[in-house]
Amino acid sequence: VTRTAYVTGAAGFIGSHLVDRLLERGCRVVGMDNLKLGRRANLEKALRDPAFELIEADVNDVPAAVERLRRHRFGPVGEVWHLAANSDIAAGAADPELDLRDTFQTTHSTLRLMERLSIPALVFASTSAIYGELDVPLKEDTGPLFPVSRYGAMKLASEAAIAAATPTFLRHAWIFRFPNVIGPRATHGVIFDFLAKLRKDPTELEVLGNGAQDKPYLYVQELIDAMFLAREKSSDPINCFNVSGDSSTTVKYIAERVVASAAPGARILYGTGDRGWIGDVPRFRYSTDKIRALGWRPKLSSNEAIDRTIRELGR
Ligand SMILES: NC(=O)c1ccc[n+]([C@@H]2O[C@H](COP(=O)([O-])OP(=O)(O)OC[C@H]3O[C@@H](n4cnc5c(N)ncnc54)[C@H](O)[C@@H]3O)[C@@H](O)[C@H]2O)c1
Repeated sequence: VTRTAYVTGAAGFIGSHLVDRLLERGCRVVGMDNLKLGRRANLEKALRDPAFELIEADVNDVPAAVERLRRHRFGPVGEVWHLAANSDIAAGAADPELDLRDTFQTTHSTLRLMERLSIPALVFASTSAIYGELDVPLKEDTGPLFPVSRYGAMKLASEAAIAAATPTFLRHAWIFRFPNVIGPRATHGVIFDFLAKLRKDPTELEVLGNGAQDKPYLYVQELIDAMFLAREKSSDPINCFNVSGDSSTTVKYIAERVVASAAPGARILYGTGDRGWIGDVPRFRYSTDKIRALGWRPKLSSNEAIDRTIRELGR
């Protein structure tokens, strides 16, 4: 074991899978989560591992985290994986402060902590939402970028804050723009919502929007494979990657598959608009040449990732 990693959002969906994978690789891991959206149960396996510790606190309480990490028994932190954010887009639309605090300020706070502790490397979970509604294949250098949600705006601002730290203490940053990521332990998202609705009423499923929204979905372990690979193979001051396969899935497909698995025969009631909610982007196409050039491509198509997740969540 040579490295100590610090993971924010560690009890969340993607964060908890990442913690497991870092531990498997022999890293020591300190996780941070305020358990607002995340769950201790997601870390059931990690919490039994002596190479893992969870700090239950708010990322924005920088002095507390600095204090905990300064003379940690795991030794100095070599890299930070910053995944804490508000992932509840609807809540973010209702409360204007939420994404400022949990999506942007957490990034600012993470950078402050890194500066105080002289941690040189940051991996950041960004999103397709930063691109807004551009109807072109989205390349990492596409611009200007005008997001259509507060969440997207605060992620784009986070990328900017990270870039601004590279001339000083931050030696390397890896910025990954995720598509829709799915898999077990999800705390939110379309499959999670559909299953929750059908548990309440197994006779019908109300779909937000007309079902034609068509986006790429990526299985969580494949996302982590891509991040590990790019983290190893690229070492510019800023390394920015879209991560996605080239196929996509409609909401209609997801609704039909979830119904077939969880409540066969339930009626599917579609809405009228082309989008599920304000700030939703009905379709987007990533250019994935950059991550593919490193030798990564997902094994599962978008539809296969959906099918696998429905099977696993239904267990
Ligand atoms: N799941 C996706 O499809 C997707 C897509 C694009 C980007 N992302 C990004 O990936 C990251 C992980 O997302 P996820 O799907 O696992 O969501 P998640 O909600 O399951 O995980 C986020 C975690 O951060 C924690 N958190 C939030 N604010 C905090 C704060 N102030 N202090 C401490 N902890 C805090 C939450 O409790 C939660 O456990 C997020 O940054 C998200 O924006 C996710």
